[in-house]
Amino acid sequence: MPAPRKLFVTTALPYANGKFHIGHIMEYIQADIWVRFQRMTGAEVNFVGADDAHGAPIMIAAEKAGKTPQQFVADIAAGRKPYLDGFHIAFDNWHSTDAPENHELAQQIYLDLKANGLIETRTIEQFFDPEKNMFLPDRFIKGECPRCHSKDQYGDNCEVCGAVYAPTDLIEPYSALSGAKPVLRSSEHFFFKLSDPRCVAFLEEWTQNGKHVQPEVARKVKEWFSVRENPDGTTSEGLGDWDISRDAPYFGIEIPDAPGKYFYVWLDAPVGYLASLKNLLDKARIETDIDDDTPAPAAITYEQYMAQPELEQVHFIGKDIVTFHTLFWPAMLKFSGRKTPDRICVHGFLTVNNGEKMSKSRGTGLDPLKYLSLGMNPEWLRYYLAAKLNGRNEDIDFNPDDFVARVNADLVGKYVNIASRAAGFIGKRFGGALGEPTADGRALLVALRAEADGIRALYDGRDYARALRETMALADKVNEYVDANKPWELAKQPDSEARLHDVCTVCIEAFRLLTLYLKPVLPALAANVEAFLKIAPLQWADVDAPLPAGHAIGEYRHLMQRVDAKLLDQLFEPPAAEQPAAAAAAPKKAAKAAAPAADPGAPGGEALAPVVGIDDFAKVDLRIAKILACEKVEGSTKLLRLTLDVGEKGEDGQPRTRNVFSGIASAYQPEQLAGKLTVMVANLAPRKMKFGLSEGMVLAASHADEQAQPGIFVLEPWPGAQPGMRVR
Ligand code: MSP
Ligand code: ZN
Repeated sequence: MPAPRKLFVTTALPYANGKFHIGHIMEYIQADIWVRFQRMTGAEVNFVGADDAHGAPIMIAAEKAGKTPQQFVADIAAGRKPYLDGFHIAFDNWHSTDAPENHELAQQIYLDLKANGLIETRTIEQFFDPEKNMFLPDRFIKGECPRCHSKDQYGDNCEVCGAVYAPTDLIEPYSALSGAKPVLRSSEHFFFKLSDPRCVAFLEEWTQNGKHVQPEVARKVKEWFSVRENPDGTTSEGLGDWDISRDAPYFGIEIPDAPGKYFYVWLDAPVGYLASLKNLLDKARIETDIDDDTPAPAAITYEQYMAQPELEQVHFIGKDIVTFHTLFWPAMLKFSGRKTPDRICVHGFLTVNNGEKMSKSRGTGLDPLKYLSLGMNPEWLRYYLAAKLNGRNEDIDFNPDDFVARVNADLVGKYVNIASRAAGFIGKRFGGALGEPTADGRALLVALRAEADGIRALYDGRDYARALRETMALADKVNEYVDANKPWELAKQPDSEARLHDVCTVCIEAFRLLTLYLKPVLPALAANVEAFLKIAPLQWADVDAPLPAGHAIGEYRHLMQRVDAKLLDQLFEPPAAEQPAAAAAAPKKAAKAAAPAADPGAPGGEALAPVVGIDDFAKVDLRIAKILACEKVEGSTKLLRLTLDVGEKGEDGQPRTRNVFSGIASAYQPEQLAGKLTVMVANLAPRKMKFGLSEGMVLAASHADEQAQPGIFVLEPWPGAQPGMRVR
């Protein structure tokens, strides 16, 4: 047996100045699928991410928000978990480029480059904001375009005519921070001498030898070795040196022995990959040290880990940051005497509804958290994106109709249904025990197993689209087998008991194989299947470990719903604040799905809901509300209309009230409630009802079986609570 692969895998480190958008999530899903696949084949993987904390834009955004940059990025970091957990993205560690490990590593790499003669200082002239007392990044200088004379264009290019120029070419430049007229000042900058013949020779070989980047990326990079575009529109020969320093004030890492000088954010950003890994390995060491009973196999130092000759270092990135990862980063590592990356996996951009490429700052029409809050299954998105990702760096588009079709027709229609067509019979007729596959069934299973190596290679090459196409073609074969053998008819024939058993056994084994092939994409579904089949977590080698006759499986429970197309309408509706009427179409589906099933033995007549973490609980914003008015609703016997004060003010500064319809008319007269305090769900999506818009929900208790134990009891806080206070 070959030794297991050892992989160190990263995704690009997102700027810590905004929430994740769907483009980030796509990148993480792509990498997560790859990592899960590798783990299934026995690989040892460390999969890490981090926030990219430094740079002028973050420093400026923090100042605007009235926070220190450290506080600002910590607040962003605190919001990452629901996205990652929500989409089953299983990073082993999430760190920050402002962490001590990164300061230390970045400085050490720099010192090693310097010792190797690859750092040089030069004096350059740059625009300086005399009011803010700082050098201005190009993006923070605006003025009139020298070519088309459009006003208010950025310092590096014109958004109207597309001209590329230097900030000094702008007509009447001004600082976007203060409005002041910038002045030219000279300053000493540090450069990484990428033009050094050693660097050029190394990078030409490294990028063009067919081992590290996709061919389409190699072709693009090749152009940079011959000509280079200067900021002023002129061109020069070959690679230019790279300006790696910025002057204080700057949120970044100090350059050793250079007071007031900081590393440009892109110098320390990729070092963050190593810092996150080091942090992970150090934590593992501390944990194993504490638990002194166990030997410490994982207790390997960062240096030892990186020194393993078989270790593969793999970075997943988008096509906009190829220069940094195929030139600067490998050269930094190589010439500081460190391990260079083994693979840079470049993906294209995700667009939504054929929209423009999503902007880093402006966000998109598809909010990942809204997707989750609508109760949409994260594995629908994983499946859909996987079905489009082919390992090349083409852009892909999220199209709602296509999404519904692929999930419903392929994922649910072809794959999930196989289990539901067979499992019931095994449970009801054969006590859950499997039989022996039929002869034609054995042939089918052989055909299914024969694809294992091919599908494995497709996952490894990140051609998930084809891996899923092949898997769905196999699902088609299985469904043909089911249609040809018709278990539902066998079930009616008294003498076909044995055949029914064996046909269903084939279906279950086929379903196990398909689940194995889909597991990198659908980890949660696969875990449910493993529980249902009563098997250990599926590994790739289990392709050849069929379920034996007599193996008892569990009870089948439906594994995945179809997508309701209405959910996609809701997903793309503008947020309530922008367009209240449109947002009013409430997630009825989600509300219904949560309705409990009655269970007479359980407390209150229903079983407890599944355990949730504190994070999930915190998503529900409960507030004290004062019932200012309460009235009957004409045309309804169930509803009362409540006017609630939750301590809010409208845009005009006047107190704002909420209108809420509540199904409590059978239990209360309006005058019993008016003037009282209660508790409401204040962040429930508004819901349009026949009688008007309902802007929340008040809390009330009731028994699941209203007939047996009638009564609805509205919650009332202890005296002293004030409208608007949060209930936690
Ligand atoms: N902070 C840098 C990366 C530093 S890596 C050492 C950065 N951050 S980013 O937040 O702007 O982008 C993070 C990743 O998201 C990049 O790989 C980028 O290509 C990717 N994407 C940003 N928008 C995207 C889409 N619309 N679609 C797919 N990926 C996208 O760049
Ligand atoms: Zn212009």
